[in-house]
Amino acid sequence: MCGIVGYCGFRKAEEVIISSLKRLEYRGYDSWGLAVRDGNELKIFRSVGNIGSADFTGHFSGNMGIGHTRWATHGKPSEKNAHPHTDCTGKLAVVHNGIISNFQTLKEELSDRGHVFRSDTDTEVIAHLIEENYSGDLKTAVIRAIKRLNGSYAIVAIHSEGESLVACRYKSPLILGVGDEELIIASDVPALLDYTNRVVYLDDGDVIELKKDGYSIWNGKETTRSVESIPWSIEDAEKGGYEHFMLKEIHEAPGVIENNLAEYVPRDIELDVSFAEEVDAITVVACGTSYHAGLVGRYVFENLAQIPVRVEYASEFVYGSFLQRNSLVMGITQSGETADTLEAMKRAKKMGSKVLAITNVLGSSATRVADYVIYSRAGPEISVAATKSFIAQLVVLYLIAIELSSIPLSEKRKLIDELKMLPGTVQSIFQYESEIASLSEWISEYENMMYVGRGYGYPVALEGALKMKEISYIHAEGYPAGELKHGPFALLGERTPVIAILIPDDSYSIMLSNIKEMKARDSPVIALADENDTEVEKYVDRVIRIPSTRSILAPITYSIVLQLLAYYTAKARGCEIDRPRNLAKSVTVE
Ligand code: M6R
Repeated sequence: MCGIVGYCGFRKAEEVIISSLKRLEYRGYDSWGLAVRDGNELKIFRSVGNIGSADFTGHFSGNMGIGHTRWATHGKPSEKNAHPHTDCTGKLAVVHNGIISNFQTLKEELSDRGHVFRSDTDTEVIAHLIEENYSGDLKTAVIRAIKRLNGSYAIVAIHSEGESLVACRYKSPLILGVGDEELIIASDVPALLDYTNRVVYLDDGDVIELKKDGYSIWNGKETTRSVESIPWSIEDAEKGGYEHFMLKEIHEAPGVIENNLAEYVPRDIELDVSFAEEVDAITVVACGTSYHAGLVGRYVFENLAQIPVRVEYASEFVYGSFLQRNSLVMGITQSGETADTLEAMKRAKKMGSKVLAITNVLGSSATRVADYVIYSRAGPEISVAATKSFIAQLVVLYLIAIELSSIPLSEKRKLIDELKMLPGTVQSIFQYESEIASLSEWISEYENMMYVGRGYGYPVALEGALKMKEISYIHAEGYPAGELKHGPFALLGERTPVIAILIPDDSYSIMLSNIKEMKARDSPVIALADENDTEVEKYVDRVIRIPSTRSILAPITYSIVLQLLAYYTAKARGCEIDRPRNLAKSVTVE
């Protein structure tokens, strides 16, 4: 999704803006631009495509400016639709993330009053509304203008006559970085980290004015917000010698598991889930990979804690869902900013449920909506494909389920011990990496794939297929293995390889029968199987060995292998791995 940056300080604004926008490239964009106040003039540049090695030496020389990477929603990617957008005078410019849902009405109204529009965007109405309300004080003009907006927004505005930037947010993230004699405002933490790790998370309704000598926040009245420290360094958000962020992040899984265990199980589990002890049911709301984590959670909670769990796509939950009395709603979201998940969480609250956020991002919107928060400590995840954050979500879900379970203490301890062995187990997966890479070369020739599993293997299959289609653009479907014969069998054949998730538990023998059926329809079958499995080779074309662990924990090990499989397949197909086409890291529109 779009990225926003605003700078006010002593450095050359264009240098800070360009380097910070590059830090936001992972969010996905199709065009970009910046505006810098240079003397009493506003200089603007906008372009389609990537920032690349943009160099403005000699063009700009101000210390205050705004920048934006755009992911098209209203109007196609083009120079005229790229931000910043200006008013009629050209003295005022704005960048905006989110969607102004009443922009059409506003545009007609403003046009009737003589405003001339030069883009197809919803954003441009904001510039014209601020212009109408401007009489020398940008902050007042912004406060008046946003009263007319419906929808979601994070906005930064600049005026050629002013000494300040004015920004505001509603349902779209915006964070202030507080440096020494400089301020930087952005939609996401990596944009700030080169300059400071001291941040202020803004709330919905906040309007902030940034000046060289400080800032002030207004939300109906003058307001203060605490300054917090980000526990990540810029190195955490860099590639560290890996060709892609995705590969680096897959390799960070052992450390991520360790981090979560160190945080929540220093000795015994020290995760406070007392709020969930009396609940009769759990409903998970989430999207994409986080939804798949919820599906794994369903099996884990039902098996370990005998709590019924429903897992809902957040985008569907809002349509007339019913919540059982005494339900806990879990919003699982890596970014903490996914609009559909936030809406579902808010709806659950309105319906009287307590809401827990499981999120990777400190201070994100999900943490404000929720009654309780548990951080899944994965560190910054830059690649659009969620990898280590999924593993972190699973670890947190295991820990909550173990804590809520009434299994004997000795059994709980065994499970914890096995979780503690997982970093080593996961590390040993990487010894098979070159095998996985060579198998991926072969897979890369196909255009359709099927992923199947049962029990714990089913959400793993869904997640494996999502990862494959997302970054390699191969059409991949995940299915419960038992469902194939109810329709998808028609798609099997020698051009449709099947990835079969074979977990050595009570699903194993029926999975072997299903595999026979698939082989009988000529599909090549690749099995992911436990390293001690001596049967599987007789049934399938290729086997990827997975280091042994208890079946309940297998979603972690098997998923990491599927992440590698997707990565190397995408690489073999020459895809742009960290920023797949049409996708964004943080989906902040419904
Ligand atoms: O930040 P969230 O966990 O809420 O994001 C949800 C999905 O957009 C996300 O998991 C998406 O499916 C990933 N790109 C998949 O790799």
